[in-house]
Parts: sequence; structure tokens; C-alpha cells
Amino acid sequence: MEENNYLPFRSEVIDIIRHTKLEYTFKMAYNGAVLPGQFFEVSIPGFGEAPISVSGIDSGSVDLTIRRVGNVTGELFTRRPGGALFMRGPYGNGFAVGDYAGRELVVIAGGTGVSPVRGVITHFASQNSDAKKLTVIAGFKTPEDILFRKDFEAWKKRAAVILTVDKDEGNGGYPVGLVTEYIPKLDIQDLNTAAAIVVGPPPMMRFSTKGLIERGFKESNIWISQERRMCCGIGKCGHCKVNEVYICLDGPVFNFSRGRHLID
Ligand SMILES: Cc1cc2nc3c(=O)[nH]c(=O)nc-3n(C[C@H](O)[C@H](O)[C@H](O)COP(=O)(O)OP(=O)(O)OC[C@H]3O[C@@H](n4cnc5c(N)ncnc54)[C@H](O)[C@@H]3O)c2cc1C
Ligand code: FES
Repeated sequence: MEENNYLPFRSEVIDIIRHTKLEYTFKMAYNGAVLPGQFFEVSIPGFGEAPISVSGIDSGSVDLTIRRVGNVTGELFTRRPGGALFMRGPYGNGFAVGDYAGRELVVIAGGTGVSPVRGVITHFASQNSDAKKLTVIAGFKTPEDILFRKDFEAWKKRAAVILTVDKDEGNGGYPVGLVTEYIPKLDIQDLNTAAAIVVGPPPMMRFSTKGLIERGFKESNIWISQERRMCCGIGKCGHCKVNEVYICLDGPVFNFSRGRHLID
């Protein structure tokens, strides 16, 4: 009999990390192959289903960092460790870290856009990193909105990390401004091979990719990750289709030379 790809499995909530009032990371029990940038369809019977990116991968678990915005995500936030959710996946292509090995790598992320690239940054910011040089530029609305604070501190040991906020009414001590301001100042030795990853809200992706190209990055050395309304997640319903491209199947990670027309 053919395997039923829609069939979800039950997964236990192992732990919950509260970043902000609206954003929590759920550590979910999961054993299996998965890449950063892939996503799961997470469901709660009676409430529905939502695609959520993998924000961390550990032995026996995956992290899902979720922003409470509506029906499904609101119900998810009532779950506690020991409770359960249903998941199917992982779906999509994810980031192939081999694409960036041995290169100067710049990761530019905005808000929850840090989630899908967190695994890539952690890989290249590790002791055995095979990146030539890693630069991370991340932007959040205010200091209160910053996610993954401990990770940023850890990444600073092996990467150049720039953490900016749009506005700071207190005294958070973070530079105020847009991530794009730092692109012209990037210290890159070899623009033929230097790679960049951009993930975040559409305007941020548009201006960041434009800035990278003006700085001399090749289009084929830039990758983006795209969020689109999804339903099936497996190329059947056509909800995510843009021209001939299925974001759920062919993406959500695209090389910019192919994905540039997909940015809203
Ligand atoms: C590939 C992919 C990966 C994603 N990864 C994450 C993630 O890691 N963490 C996370 O918190 N969210 C992620 N999202 C977005 C998430 O799937 C939606 O926020 C979720 O479906 C909302 O479900 P809900 O039932 O709680 O909200 P609903 O009740 O359906 O909607 C609440 C509000 O959010 C809006 N909305 C719903 N879905 C989307 C969407 N896809 N894009 C923009 N606006 C939307 C609605 O118009 C409405 O205003 C991802 C989406 C995609 C396509
Ligand atoms: S979400 Fe159904 S085809 Fe992509």
C-alpha cells in the first residue's frame, strides 16, 4: 500500500523556552533526518495546522520557534512540557551547509527569520567550523523582541555578530538602525566565492539582497528562504505555487538567481 504522506505523528513537548510574550521555542520529541530551514506541518485536532520551521536540531528532538498569531499558534501556546502536538514532515529542501563550507559567509536575518538559519549559524560558529569567516547581521524591532539571546552570545566567540534594533526606548545598548546599513561596510576578501543567506520579512529581503549585489556579491552566491501561505506542504494543493514553482517542494530555500522573483 502507498505511504500516506498526510498522516501526522504524535510528538511530546519536551521543553518550552519563552523568548518574548508572543514567541516561544517548543522542543519537540523527534528522531529522524532533518535539515535547518525545513519545516513541519504542526497540528492540533479541532484547531488546524500551521507550517513551522525547524529552529534547532538535537539528538531526539527538534526546536520549533513559534509566534502566537491566531488559531493554531494560540492553542499551541496552551501546551506544557509533557503535552503533545501532531506533526508531519519534515518538508521542503532546507539549507545544505555544504554549499557554504570553505567560504566567507554572511547571514542576514530579521525577527523570526533567525529561526530557519539558527542551525546554519550554529554549525559554522562551532569549534570545528569549516567556514572561512562568518558574519551574522540580525535585526529585531526592539530589545524586548530579541530571540535566541544565549545563542547570539555564544556565536560571538567565533563569528562577527551585529545585533540591531529598529527602536530602543530604554537603554538596551544595541545599535539602532536597519540591517541593510551594515552591508556596504562588510569586509569581504573574495567576492567571487563569498556567500550570503537572507531570511526575514519581504521588504528586508528585497533591500538586503539589493545591498549585497551592490556590494559585489554574485546573485548565484546568495540564498533566501521564502514563506508563503501553505496547506498540504507536499506539492498537492497548489496553495504555495508561484508560476511553476512550488515553494513547499522546491523551497522554501532558493538560490537568489532562481528565487529573486518570488520575493513579495
Ligand atoms: C514554510 C513556512 C515556515 C514557517 N515557519 C514559522 C515559524 O518557524 N514560526 C512561526 O511562528 N510561524 C512560521 N510560519 C508562519 C505560520 O505558519 C503562520 O503564522 C501560521 O500558519 C498561523 O496559524 P494560526 O492558525 O495560528 O493563525 P491564523 O488564525 O490562520 O491567522 C492569524 C493571522 O496570521 C495571518 N497569517 C496566517 N498564516 C500566515 C502566513 N503564512 N504568512 C503571513 N500571515 C499569515 C492571518 O492572515 C491572520 O492575520 C511559517 C510559514 C511557512 C509557510
Ligand atoms: S502547500 Fe500545497 S502545493 Fe505547496
